[in-house]
Amino acid sequence: MKVLRTVEEARTYRKSVGDVAFVPTMGAFHEGHYELMREAKRLCPTTVVSLFVNPMQFNDPTDLDRYPRQEERDFSGAQAAGVDAVFAPLAEDLVSTDSVRVRVSGVADRWEGESRPGHFEGVATIVLKLFNIISASTAVFGLKDLQQCAVVRTMVESLNVPVKVHTVETVRSPDGLALSSRNALLTEVERATAPRLYGFLTECAESLRTGNTDVASAVATARERLETSGFVVGYVALVDPKTMTELGAPRPGCRLIAAASLGNVRLIDNIDVKYC
Ligand code: PAJ
Repeated sequence: MKVLRTVEEARTYRKSVGDVAFVPTMGAFHEGHYELMREAKRLCPTTVVSLFVNPMQFNDPTDLDRYPRQEERDFSGAQAAGVDAVFAPLAEDLVSTDSVRVRVSGVADRWEGESRPGHFEGVATIVLKLFNIISASTAVFGLKDLQQCAVVRTMVESLNVPVKVHTVETVRSPDGLALSSRNALLTEVERATAPRLYGFLTECAESLRTGNTDVASAVATARERLETSGFVVGYVALVDPKTMTELGAPRPGCRLIAAASLGNVRLIDNIDVKYC
């Protein structure tokens, strides 16, 4: 597996191989990331992963400081997942110091966009830069970050970026908790409570699927159950995953989304209601 450190090296590598599938990441790999890499490998013989903790998308500097960094371990994991090259540039090479930013309004405004001002601008800007450097035909993203998928898809469609966005369902621990590098920051007690986020979303989806048309009360019940379990709830809502607009009634493809904190760890999750 090749490690590419500069934009120039990445471009030269890209020219030397055929088509590539691309997985953008910030490192601290877990099975969720490895599943994306294996999926990329299934889609295209050559897979490139980027590993870059993007300062532009952190609105809270302490969050950036405590972001886990474990490059050597990540390199061996990526190699084991069949990755051909990792692009791991230095921050100064990739962060735009000028004022050019990509802002995707509408789809990025609510939910995570509301609680993390500037976050999606940082994501869209770095993802477009990475797309321009790697020029992959396909890029793979995890549905764990549902709104990020919607923002990237909207940007790609709107700016005619020549890449296919492919998504992969969330990988979970056996107890249901969505894998996330943030899970390591939970205390033992919080970690034991955390899977309830998925549990209550699953119950809520089940009730909507089996004929409960009162979305407001189904969502309010999930919220109350989370609060009773000790979560501080940001939001629970039924949405259209393409536009991220809130829905008052279930429809095919709709998803339940939630953000809730335990101590100072903010967890996000979402599930397919499987409504037909
Ligand atoms: P990061 O948080 O490292 O995530 C990289 C990719 O892994 C994203 O597409 C994310 O949705 C996916 N992922 C994370 N946890 C997952 C899980 N449990 N199951 C499946 N996929 C999962 O997302 C980012 O980095 C950044 O915002 C980035 C797109 C790299 C831009 O900086």
